[in-house]
Amino acid sequence: PDYTITVDPARTGPAIGDEMYGVFFEDINYAADGGLYAELIRNRSFEFQAADNRSYTGLTGWTATGTATTVDDAERLNERNRTYLRLTGPGSITNAGFNSGVAVKEGELYDFSVWARSDSAAALTISLATAGGAALATPLKINIKDNTWSRYAGTLRATSTSDAGRLSMSANGAGAHRLDMVSLFPRATYKGHGLRKDLAEKVAALRPGFVRFPGGCLVNTGSHYAYDAASGFPRARSYQWKDTVGPVETRATNANFWGYNQSYGLGYYEYFQFSEDIGAAPLPVVPALVTGCGQNRATDDPALLQRHIQDTLDLIEFANGPVSSTWGKLRQQMGHPKPFGLTMVAVGNEENLPDEYFANFGKFRDAIKAKYPAITVISNSGPDDMGVTFDNLWAKNKAAGTEMVDEHYYNSPNWFLQNNDRYDSYDRSGPKVFLGEYASQDAKFFNSLAEAAYMTGLERNADVVKMASYAPLFANIDNVQWRPDLIWLDNDESWGSTSYQVQKLFMNNVGDRVVPSTVTGGRVVQPKPITGRVGLSTWRTAARYDDLKVTTPDGTVLLEDTFDDGNADGWTPLENRGAWAVADGAYAQTDVTAENTMVAAATGITATEYDITVKATK
Ligand code: AHR
Repeated sequence: PDYTITVDPARTGPAIGDEMYGVFFEDINYAADGGLYAELIRNRSFEFQAADNRSYTGLTGWTATGTATTVDDAERLNERNRTYLRLTGPGSITNAGFNSGVAVKEGELYDFSVWARSDSAAALTISLATAGGAALATPLKINIKDNTWSRYAGTLRATSTSDAGRLSMSANGAGAHRLDMVSLFPRATYKGHGLRKDLAEKVAALRPGFVRFPGGCLVNTGSHYAYDAASGFPRARSYQWKDTVGPVETRATNANFWGYNQSYGLGYYEYFQFSEDIGAAPLPVVPALVTGCGQNRATDDPALLQRHIQDTLDLIEFANGPVSSTWGKLRQQMGHPKPFGLTMVAVGNEENLPDEYFANFGKFRDAIKAKYPAITVISNSGPDDMGVTFDNLWAKNKAAGTEMVDEHYYNSPNWFLQNNDRYDSYDRSGPKVFLGEYASQDAKFFNSLAEAAYMTGLERNADVVKMASYAPLFANIDNVQWRPDLIWLDNDESWGSTSYQVQKLFMNNVGDRVVPSTVTGGRVVQPKPITGRVGLSTWRTAARYDDLKVTTPDGTVLLEDTFDDGNADGWTPLENRGAWAVADGAYAQTDVTAENTMVAAATGITATEYDITVKATK
């Protein structure tokens, strides 16, 4: 059908803020170490252990000749970097880097450093070569002067290009050599601040208005991959900003939520610096101690909660405080005396025990507002009428006068098309919306178009939708845990998805103000006839659906099921993608841990246009 768009420039719609579109960086899909953080050495501080991930040992990433063991004893480098390598000479140790290896470019400089001590004067030879032994740089010699920990450094210049290099350290003399924090960094990083250039440039090219970080489920305690019922979560900690600042050799290694270790080389200082470098507002997410993301456990330790609230106040001081303050001084020592200009903080991520979460949120908010009234404090939420809701949290937020809520949804392209008007009738007297995570599931061009269409709805409602970020941002091609993703990478290349192009288009062309317009003559049109497949999908968590209905534009009902009779008439689960059951005859329910899709079983639906309505809650 023909569409007529009528624009009335005399009327003015809502202003669109500079922070309308941003990015959400989470260390999922191995996005930090081996990704945005430019370090080339994997397990540089020998902290990997089986308690974090059953495949790990202290020598993960390394191979040794001679006697090389990892040791955690009183000789350690420091309390937070507890394990070191003890190499008895003569012997050598070689690191295989990330993905296919250490990536180097001919002519470029690479800064090597190591913390070392030795009980006998020893020379270390540092070499860069291919797995087959072909030299990639002229070796470097380092003399370990004594048996106290010192940092030694030198530079290697790559004599040829490789994406499969190996870094070796060999000690020819006898004696026990202790080594820790072995690092190789490309001299060329984004604005000289330690981030991989091609990746940071791809984010910068989006011209994002804000950077949400560090997660996501990542901010929550523990890893559901490493979880071991017998031992609990032995080392994994929720993402706590104080673990991630100060000299890198004093930053702990953490077992993250996504089942692998993070070095914290990319920490809070680096996130703030990166946000500043790309002209985006920083938006940190702190854990609210009601671990969400399927774990649903609330702390019952008031002292721990209080400590996290104080940590959040300290975080604001770290970002904005004067250099005379405790945390502002640390910022200065790390190289940034000027404040970072933090204006907002999000408390919690998908922490979906509504009562427990909201009680904690209130305590964080009151404490932040008492000390920093200008900081916007963002809550978790989702309205009650869709599969991503957190029960009555939205209503609680409204009643409490919450300024902004963080909504998340991953859904089918049809859902995005059908819900373009989602915010047209949104309650304007409640909190503003931060759409912190969304993506049309699957990675086809149509998904990206559905996202683009949906974004017009966000923009049209810019009076209530204040910020939006696609998720996830990065995926390492060898370690994909979640799809779709915006930017793909291996150890030396990166490329954007079609959704990246959509985001780039919108972010580079943010309007100042909505000009109200009306469209006549059009409807949602499927790209091809629907042949008995009308999908509904939700993600990863229990959901209840009721009153499903599909009609053609002229009102003909193609499929309908209220589930009142206990039968999922006309609907069937898509094989192997999730369990659907009709529960107590009143609604259809999913309780699976993977994406699941419910499809219309009936054949013969050939309409190219249809309306679908569904009630869903979880
Ligand atoms: O973006 C991937 C994950 O999806 C995030 O960690 C979480 O917040 C959401 O459920």
